[in-house]
This record gives sequence, structure tokens and C-alpha cells, in this order.
Amino acid sequence: MCGIVGYTGKNLAVPYLIDGLSKLEYRGYDSAGVAVMENGRISVTKKSGRLSVLEKELAKHEQSTATVGIGHTRWATHGRPSDENAHPHLSENCLFAVVHNGIIENYAALKEQLESEGIHFSSQTDTEVISQLLEKNYDGSFLSSVQKTLPMLEGAYALAVLCRDEPDTVICAKKASPLVLGKSEEGIFAASDVTAVLKHTRDVYKLSDGETAVCRGASLSFYSADGKPVQKSCEHITWSAEDAQKGGYDHFMLKEIFEQPAAFAATVNQHITGGKLSFENLPLSKDEIGKLDRIVITACGSAYHTGIVGKYIFESLTRIPTEVDIASEFRYRDPILTENTLVIIISQSGETADTLAALRLAKEKGARVLSIVNVVGSTIANESDGVIYTAAGPEIAVATTKAYSTQLAVLYLLCGHFAFERGLMDADGLSRYLLELQSIPKKINEVLEANRERAKELAKLFVPLDHAYYIGRGLDFAAATEGSLKMKEISYIHSEAYAAGELKHGTISLVEKGTLIVALACHEPLFAKTMSNIREVVSRGARILAVTTDRHKDEMKDFDFVLTVPETLLPFCASLEVVVLQLLAYYASLYRGCDIDKPRNLAKSVTVE
Ligand code: F6R
Repeated sequence: MCGIVGYTGKNLAVPYLIDGLSKLEYRGYDSAGVAVMENGRISVTKKSGRLSVLEKELAKHEQSTATVGIGHTRWATHGRPSDENAHPHLSENCLFAVVHNGIIENYAALKEQLESEGIHFSSQTDTEVISQLLEKNYDGSFLSSVQKTLPMLEGAYALAVLCRDEPDTVICAKKASPLVLGKSEEGIFAASDVTAVLKHTRDVYKLSDGETAVCRGASLSFYSADGKPVQKSCEHITWSAEDAQKGGYDHFMLKEIFEQPAAFAATVNQHITGGKLSFENLPLSKDEIGKLDRIVITACGSAYHTGIVGKYIFESLTRIPTEVDIASEFRYRDPILTENTLVIIISQSGETADTLAALRLAKEKGARVLSIVNVVGSTIANESDGVIYTAAGPEIAVATTKAYSTQLAVLYLLCGHFAFERGLMDADGLSRYLLELQSIPKKINEVLEANRERAKELAKLFVPLDHAYYIGRGLDFAAATEGSLKMKEISYIHSEAYAAGELKHGTISLVEKGTLIVALACHEPLFAKTMSNIREVVSRGARILAVTTDRHKDEMKDFDFVLTVPETLLPFCASLEVVVLQLLAYYASLYRGCDIDKPRNLAKSVTVE
């Protein structure tokens, strides 16, 4: 996610801004910039690339004497990483400069309106609408311009703003994205993350949604959403800087598990307006979607596992034959692809070597290629015919959690769109489907709240094990593949996922007294079948850790351990049960003393074959 800093006070602003941004580097970014008040104007310096590139650019000019400024590290969401798209963004007449973290969901409509009024934009970002609106709404008061603009913005934001006419002031505001303010004798320090402030002060104020903070010299005042002054009490931070980066969680993986509701919501909401779906970069018309005779999903690791979910849901909802293949296999198997084949490439990093090779092969063979990618402007995104971005934000733990969940979110969106365009889902059906999809973040939250403590307890069962098995049918099997990978990669316990109905064709010979089997039973139409398979292993001495939906809790009470998740529409069930499996893996790894965020032998981005 983007990082924000701001400073007003008696010291030079630029060194603080750069130092603050360096503390936010861990969040991931592709460009950086600062804006300072200098000689009666706003001076902006911004560069694509690392912070050091920005520092070199700043060093080319005379040292800034400004004592007021804002800064930003950008993680691209709207518009590729570039100098123009880097923040801060100036308004057309350079009256305002804005840095922003979050996504303005109604930016397209706002931009269209502003452009129709003759306002010129100089970037492709959603953020620029904020600076243009501030200028349009300006009536001589910086604060009132901010207060008029905020209600026009839908989505999430943390903002820091400069106004040329009030050169000693930075105004900050937030909704759904974090923003903290620190106060010391040196001045006021604003940041999207407490890490950037800790060096200067441990006394911070956390802005609440809808609130505005006015930083002027060393004074700080707060206003409510309706413009009334509010008193806030400050919080004394006792964490270390490293703890602060993790937002109070012990590991990035746990933090990212808990970020899934927000990441899922951000991914889905980008494409749903007024109950309707829209995709800016889908390389297929309605007619072409109708003509598709095959979908091939290819990816590596967890991204491949989302493809397994994709196979089940695309075939059942769109009736398009769908296959899923591991990219390192696909690239060497001389696949048969035609112009009516859609190849879906899934990758968090957008740089995985085998996945990239699969993409190039698919294009060479004349297929249409759509990618689902987290990193904007990555090679896979650039080389695809179309791309849909996940809004997971930077994922730091090597073992993916929120990227996996947001990849599923995009597959659900696409599936609903294709089913509708092919006449297999009517408008009512689509709107029910989307409504339920938008309720998944809340349900993931419920899963986290209801299961965290119990999963922590049950994870102790795995600690002495050499092997664990995950079984399920249909979408439960798809979720099992991911749950099993999570367990093995971070806890180093050998684990495998099996299609429950396949056990009796060989694998069941491994089951003996005490074997721990994680049995997934959330795929409703197959519940009875899965229950039979669970009984087969129970009668051979297996211990069962079952994950099922609330309605089946009682039927499962004879099994050793049962965890439940809420009901949802069938296509989305993997998104809820997988969260329980992530928690089990996380705590098992914790108890075994493993390096959770950086498991041995693994890298976050695999750019070699
Ligand atoms: C496992 C994991 C990996 C990645 C795989 C593909 O937790 O993260 O299996 O899913 O290496 O990486 P991307 O998605 O970057 O192509």
C-alpha cells in the first residue's frame, strides 16, 4: 500500500519526509515524491523507482529551506508506475497538492464530470480527482475546501494536502485507510503508519473515519465530519519500529490474514457499481465471451490453487470447458489453443518466470490472454491482452494469504460476468450473486473472529506430526490444496491434499490409528458424500479435524474436532474455509518455532525457472 508522510514545524521538511518515507518502504512501492512550500509556491519532486532515485533528483537542486511538506511512496493501483502517476498530485492551477493512500471508487465519474468542465488532468490516477476537486471547491478557505470535497469521495482514503494560500499548513483526512499524527516540540508529523513517526515522538493521535486534522507549525487541531472542532486524546506508543510495521501483529503473515476482508472488499468493489459489473481492461466483448469454447487457467503454487477453484466455478456457472495447469507443465506440453480459447494467467508478483513463459506461449499460439495480477505494471500485466488487478496491496510474508483471497475474488467476478453475458444468469441472479460476493469480507471477518482462538488451540495437534492429510470434494478439495500447501511450506510438516473420493484407490492405506485428517465439508451438494469418506477414515482409526458450515455442526459432533464457517453461495465457499486453514498453518508454524514470514528455501518472487 502507499505510504504518506507530512510535516509542519520549525525544522527542514525534506529530511523528515525522506526519513519518514524510508520507514514505510517495507509496505512496497514503485515511485516516490514530495511537495514542499517554497517561496510562495508548491514545489513538487517525484520519480518512478526507489526512494534513492528521488533523493538523487532532489540533490540536483539547491537544498530546500521549506519547513512544511508532504511525501508519498506509491503502490500503483490506477495507472502504471511512472513519474506522472507518482504522488503528490497538483491541481490544474497548482493551488493544491495531495498525497493519498486508498482507492477513490467513484473517480471515473468524478473525472468525467471535471473534464467536461474543461479541467485538464495530467495523470491516470484516481488521486488527481481530489486535487482538482479541492481547487474547484476553493472559496478562500483551505479547511472549507477540504470539508466540501471529502463527502464527494467514495471509497477509502488517507490524505495529506498542501494549499498554496496557507503555506504554513498541512491538512489530513481519512476514511478506511489509517493516518496518525505525532506532536513534539519540533512540530507535527503525519504518517499513514506509526513507524514513520516513532523517531520523533511516541505520542500519537489516530484520526478516525471522517475526521480532519489541521497541522499548522507546532499546533494541531481536529474537526469532525460535520466540521465541528473535536478534542482527541493521544496514545503513547510502546512498540518498537519493527512491531509497528506489523501493526501490532507478531508476524506479517498474521497481519495479512487479518487484512483479507479489506483486500477482498477493495478488489470486488472496484468492479461493482450500482449492482452492475464493469471491467476496464477486459479484452473480450459480449460476442467474444459467447464464442469462447475453452478456458485454460495457468499459474504456480497458490495462484494455481485459485485456478482449481476457477475450474469448478467456470464450468458450473458458465458451461465453458475449463482446465487448469501448473505453468511449468503447461509451458512444455505443447498445449492446443485456438483463438476462441481464453488463457487466464494468475500471479501475485506478475514476474514468476514459469507463469510468464506460459503467457508468452499462449500468445504465440494465438489465444487471448487475460491476467490476474497484484503488482501494477509488472511484466505479466504489461504483456497480457488484458489485466484485472487484485487490490491486495503489498504482501510481505512469503506464504501468500491475501493475494490468494483476492485472486479468488477476481475469478468470482469474471465468472459472474461470463455467466451473465452468455445468458446463463439473468439480471436478478447476477445481482443476488454480487450481493453475496460483497458480503464475503464480513463473513471472512466472522470466520477470523469465531475461529482464531480455537484454531490456535487445535494447531497444537500438528506440532508432533510428520504427516497430515487434507481431504474434500469439489470446492472443498480445491481449498484443501491451498490449506495443505500453507501447512507444509511454513511448518515443514509433510502434508497432502486428496480428493476425498479418491482415497480408497490407494492413499487410504496410509491411514492408521491416530492419523490426523483435516476434512473439509462446506461444498453443500457433496456433503453426504464427503461424510461417507470421513467415516471411511474414522473407521480406520483417523482423528478428524472437520471444517464445515454452521448448519452441519451437530451432524459432525461425533468427530474429534469441528470448526465451522458461515453459509454462503456455493461458488464462494472456498474463500471462507481457507481462512481457517491459514490460521491452523500459522499457529502450527509458530509452535514449531519456524521462521513464519520467511520459510527456508522459499522466495517471494520466483523469477527463475
Ligand atoms: C505460496 C506462494 C507461492 C506463490 C507462487 C506464485 O504461499 O505464495 O506458491 O503463489 O510462487 O507466485 P506469483 O503469484 O507471484 O506468481
